Amino acid sequence: MPEVDKDPVGTALKDVWNNIHGWVGHRVPHILKLIREIHLENNVLGDIVEIGVHHGKLFFLMAAASRSHEKCIAIDLFDDQEKNLDHSGKGSLSTFSQHIEDYFPHLKHQIVAVSADSMSFTPANIRQRLETTGARLFSVDGGHTVKHVINDMALAQELLVPGGVILLDDFLGPHWPSVSEGFFEYMRITNRRLAPFLIFQNKLFLTTYSEHPQMMMQLRKLLQRDLVLEINTPKWRHAEIGEHKVLCFA
Ligand SMILES: C[S@@+](CC[C@H](N)C(=O)[O-])C[C@H]1O[C@@H](n2cnc3c(N)ncnc32)[C@H](O)[C@@H]1O
Repeated sequence: MPEVDKDPVGTALKDVWNNIHGWVGHRVPHILKLIREIHLENNVLGDIVEIGVHHGKLFFLMAAASRSHEKCIAIDLFDDQEKNLDHSGKGSLSTFSQHIEDYFPHLKHQIVAVSADSMSFTPANIRQRLETTGARLFSVDGGHTVKHVINDMALAQELLVPGGVILLDDFLGPHWPSVSEGFFEYMRITNRRLAPFLIFQNKLFLTTYSEHPQMMMQLRKLLQRDLVLEINTPKWRHAEIGEHKVLCFA
């Protein structure tokens, strides 16, 4: 029997970090590892989706966290950069595909690259490409305008399985204030089932409303296990976004 890799995100890290261009906080892989643990413990099943892939830096880390029957859907304008209205990143299908060949051939059968403008999508467009009933990890990192963020968060909301996690990039970052504006507008006009639970290295993490208390409880427990010397320092703080409790790291 082949040995089971207990930390596939950690295993993928060296290749991703050394060879793949992109924008991912250096401690985000640790959070992905903890979310994987929580999903395994709670038996949360679902596919992996990213809108806004660029060359796949975050995508391959999320794909590494997948189980063999889960698909990993990479959505980007890729070579149709005329529709990249705010010039956030620059996807390239050939670079992304080459990275699969070079570093992640074992994930090739699970990965589906979709060249598309997320603004032209409905949840059904994505759902028809999934293997399971929904997404358990969904990264929103495509167009950074207010309209793109509202659109992409709404897509993610409709596809997320209970207890799944959405990662919204550039939240509260000084370079893309439109992302934060788009998020708060989304929360005001469209949100029906998501609740944020963590702000960490430029990303906002959200889960489904009913599973939010349990997610907070499990995440706190794992952070206390892994960050014994840090978790009770001023780097970490409890705060609120609207009615939702969030853990914040700075
Ligand atoms: C900031 S980059 C993504 C970074 C990536 N997640 C990483 O891990 O490094 C933004 C990406 O979104 C894509 N994009 C921009 N507007 C889009 C749209 N309307 N639909 C789909 N993708 C879009 C760009 O082509 C670019 O690759």
